[in-house]
Amino acid sequence: MDALRMLEEFPSQFSAVECQTLNPEDYKGIVFSGMGGSGIVGDFMRLFLKPSVPVLSVRGYDLPSFVDRDWLLVCTSYSGNTEETISTLQEGLKKGARAVCISSGGRLMEMAKRENLPHLPIPQGYPPRYALGFMLSTLMCLFGMSAEVENIKANLESNKEKIKTKAQEVAKSMFTYLPIVYGTPLTETVAFRWKTQINENAKTLCYNAFLPEMHHNEVVGLDNPHIRNLCAFVLLYDPEDHTRNIKRVEITQHIFKELGIVLKVLVGEGNSLIERLLYLTYLGDWLSLYLADLYGQDPIPVRVIDFIKKSLI
Ligand code: PA5
Repeated sequence: MDALRMLEEFPSQFSAVECQTLNPEDYKGIVFSGMGGSGIVGDFMRLFLKPSVPVLSVRGYDLPSFVDRDWLLVCTSYSGNTEETISTLQEGLKKGARAVCISSGGRLMEMAKRENLPHLPIPQGYPPRYALGFMLSTLMCLFGMSAEVENIKANLESNKEKIKTKAQEVAKSMFTYLPIVYGTPLTETVAFRWKTQINENAKTLCYNAFLPEMHHNEVVGLDNPHIRNLCAFVLLYDPEDHTRNIKRVEITQHIFKELGIVLKVLVGEGNSLIERLLYLTYLGDWLSLYLADLYGQDPIPVRVIDFIKKSLI
């Protein structure tokens, strides 16, 4: 399936899956483990779950030392063969943590079978970053959020054409510039998804910074006109962000206006934070495809990632 078709069908990936549900409160904490296109789902879940226990999203080989047998480890790898994620599963098993695996197959599925762990399958045949909806729906259903999954689908389907039009406009503004995507505590994950989709689909660099931290450093860097004039700036925020961060969005707009720089400020549409975040995510996915087209790039292959994975064998 080509990239355009996968993205057209992205809303339908949000479909409730049958699985046994877990109650976050049954654990001392929850740690999501995954890399790249399979790692971002843990960041989303950290925002979506609001339990009274800690929820972490880790990217790398090691688990935090405090994770023990009373924690739940959720390992997500689309291929099932990502060595960092497998390493955390091995470590988690040594610590006696309870674990759940999500993959389209690979070693993660084999290890789950061998260790008698729950394994939730994802449809095969997609590049990992194009399977975000499948992975996220599975995780949400695992934690009893199937109603929200259906709401995301309806919201994306009804706003698809509007999202595509906006994405085209933003992509044009980024063409031949270095995209800089700013976020807030609520939109940080989406801003990072924009960065990684622009990197992998459009094959170009892109950077992030986040409020309120960027008000303590990044903003000073805007002083340099030689560099700022090479960049295209976007800021994503949500109406549910902390009121002081919303005030900071307004201050940021003012700073940009004074400097005579364009800052596109975007908010998602939807009845809940989850719907709005997926709206912005879909917008970023589309714009990365339009940007790929402007640069004459095929969005699918990620040769250097494949090279690195092979070099590590
Ligand atoms: O988009 C990609 O291809 C990567 O970011 C992968 O998701 C990442 O390398 C991890 O692989 P996997 O998703 O198979 O665990």
